Formats: sequence, structure tokens, C-alpha cells
Amino acid sequence: MTRDDERQAPVICVVGARPNYMKMAPIIRALAAHRPPLATLLVHTGQHYDSAMNDRLFDDLELPHPDVNLEVGSASHAVQTAEVMKRFEPVIDEHGARAVLVVGDVNSTLACALVAAKRDIPVVHVESGLRSGDRRMPEEINRVLTDQISDVLYTTERSAHDNLAREGVADERAVFVGNVMIDSLLANRRKAVAPAELLANAGLSPALIADGYGVVTLHRPSNVDDPETLGPIIDALAEIGRRLPLVFALHPRTRNNLERFGMKARLDESGFVVLPPQGYLEMLGLMAGATMVLTDSGGIQEETTALGVPCLTIRENTERPITVDQGTNTLVGVDPAAILAAADAVLAGGGKRGRIPELWDGRAAERIAAHLARWLDAHDKARSDA
Ligand code: UD1
Repeated sequence: MTRDDERQAPVICVVGARPNYMKMAPIIRALAAHRPPLATLLVHTGQHYDSAMNDRLFDDLELPHPDVNLEVGSASHAVQTAEVMKRFEPVIDEHGARAVLVVGDVNSTLACALVAAKRDIPVVHVESGLRSGDRRMPEEINRVLTDQISDVLYTTERSAHDNLAREGVADERAVFVGNVMIDSLLANRRKAVAPAELLANAGLSPALIADGYGVVTLHRPSNVDDPETLGPIIDALAEIGRRLPLVFALHPRTRNNLERFGMKARLDESGFVVLPPQGYLEMLGLMAGATMVLTDSGGIQEETTALGVPCLTIRENTERPITVDQGTNTLVGVDPAAILAAADAVLAGGGKRGRIPELWDGRAAERIAAHLARWLDAHDKARSDA
């Protein structure tokens, strides 16, 4: 490929798993709206493939259908990452790539960044620099490695810059732009599905939640893969459920494990409102109307902060400290007594209200498009001058 071809080539935008879609939707729109527009090619690795985890969200977010689907599916981390790499490289051969843009911290993020870096194609990472400090989290490995090989690193909070500096990433590569996930939230807030309507559509009585409710999501391997951890968490939630009805949107990993451990009946007996993974607009409506959200998700910690809804995070650490320092998030850990005490405190006192972090204003993707267009022009020029 000649230098001229390179300049005509698209920015390849990669998504793989559910939390990527709400980050990519505003970016694709902003790159298209930029003048002159930046050409993109949307690649889906197929890491998530269930309709509930996937197609619904594309429609809700008005994310265009992927140009290419690599259909890797589920596998061990090694196999999944390797398959994405093997299948992604021919896409670059066929279409060329002016840059490869990845978001978040899933296996697909690292796999495609690595392929691009070895081909000397600029890697652009959106949501850089977040660190939980816990290398047992698969996402933490993906974050650290992706940032090391990225050329342009867009950050959501200022603490990310300290993390990157500690790891020797030059500060001129990192740009604080705000949070694209909040761009999606603000763009879709008014389209959110009312919780009562959602329950009615699921064949359940809206009366179940008429006097307030909490929302639960759990899917981290550290919480759901071991019955010794999952069992007590479910018991604590069941106890909270006696004071406040809990709507539990069940991730496939958690559903499979509950069945495998013979714990599924405990959910049904404890009066949870159990639902399959929800669409984006349904989840937004559920969170916005909730008394509190109990979760181990990364993105939901940010979304609840943006919505001003108290969030109890069932983890020992967070890579998103601004949600605790400024937002509505409280880290409660996995000890059942601590989870229960934190929920009781919210019920008694209303919980944290927080404030909106800097640049979580719905315009992060616009800032990315403006910066990236300039960066790519300068990069291409430097290459052709060389
Ligand atoms: C992945 C991400 C995680 C993200 C989460 C959101 C990594 C390392 N993890 O975790 O950061 O928060 O997505 O959901 O990339 N499954 C289905 N249908 C699907 C997808 C998965 O049934 O469409 C089941 C399969 O049994 C699979 C399991 O869920 O083995 C786990 O899926 P996987 O993509 O490997 O990881 P997640 O736990 O979803």
C-alpha cells in the first residue's frame, strides 16, 4: 500500500462486547459529522453474539451494522484473543487502515490494538489510563497493555494521566476529552423506556416496583465464577430484597453459573424480579428510576454518577475513582454484611447524590473527532516527508 492509499484508508473502529457499543456509537457519528468526514470501517469481533447482548443494543444506540463481523464467539481468554488477532489482520490487508480505534478494556480491545501496532498502524485508545490496581482482573491486563502500544490515548478523568505517567506513557500522547459513554447516555436519556412499561412488556405486574426498587447487575468472574463468593452475595441481595424489590438483569455468565451451582431457585424464591440482559434504553430507564443500583459493572458506576442515582459497587476496587470521589458511587466490597449495611444506609438516608465530573457533558466524541483529524493529518504528513 502506498502512502497515498494509506491516507485514503478508513479508520477501523472495533467493537466486541456489550460495553463497547455505547462508547463507539457517538464516536462513529462524530467522525462522520466532522468536516471533512473521517472515513470509518466498523468491525465487530463477535465476542458477544447473543441477541440480548448484541443486536438490541446496536438498534437502541443507532449504531450502524458492522461492515465486518469476525464471529469469534466465546472461548478461553487465550483462544478468544488469538482468534480475534488471526481474523482481524486480513481485514487490514483488504481495506487498509489509516488508524485502528479501540475502546474500553475487553479482550477484543487488546487483540486488535496488538495487530495494528505490529503493522505500524496508529492505535487510538478511547478510555485510556483507568486502573483498578488489580492484575487478577482480565480487563486490567487489557488496559495496561493496550495503553502501552497506543499512539493516541483519550481519557475520561484526570486521574488516568497519573496512572499513565507511572507506567512511562508520555503525557503528550494522552488527551483528556471526557466520557463518550456519557455522550450516549445524554443523547438517549429522553428515549429511555419507563420501568413500568418494561415490566408490563415482560408480562410482569408494574405494581411490583410501584413503591420503589433497586437494580442489580453482576457478571465479574471474581464475583460469579466461585459458588463460595456468589452464594453469600446472592444471600445479601435477597435480604435487601425484603426491604426493597430488586430487579436483576441477568448476564449469561451469571445465569449459567447460578444454574451450574444449583442456585437459580434461590433467586426465584427470594422474590427478585429476574430479567434477561436488557436493551440500552430499558437499562437507562431502570437505572434512572431506581432508589439504588447494586453492580460490579464498570460502565454502570459511571452511568449512575451521570444520573445522580446512588450506586453500591460490589467490588473491592474501582478503575473509575472519580465516581467515588465526585459521583454517587460507594465501593462496598463482597462481604454480605457490608453490602447489607450500605444498602440500609441508602434506604435510611437517600445515599450519595454527587456531582457531574468535568467534561462529562455529552461532547467527548466531538472533541475526539476534532483532535484525531488534526493528529492524523500531522501523522500522515510526517510520514510522507520522511
Ligand atoms: C466481557 C468483558 C467484560 C465486560 C463484559 C460485559 C473481557 C475480558 N470481558 O465479559 O469486561 O464487562 O463482557 O458483558 O473481555 N455469553 C453468552 N452470550 C454472549 C456472550 C457471552 O452466552 O453473547 C456467555 C458465554 O458463556 C461466555 C460467557 O458469557 O463464555 C462470558 O463471555 P465473555 O465475552 O467471554 O466475557 P464476559 O463475562 O461477557
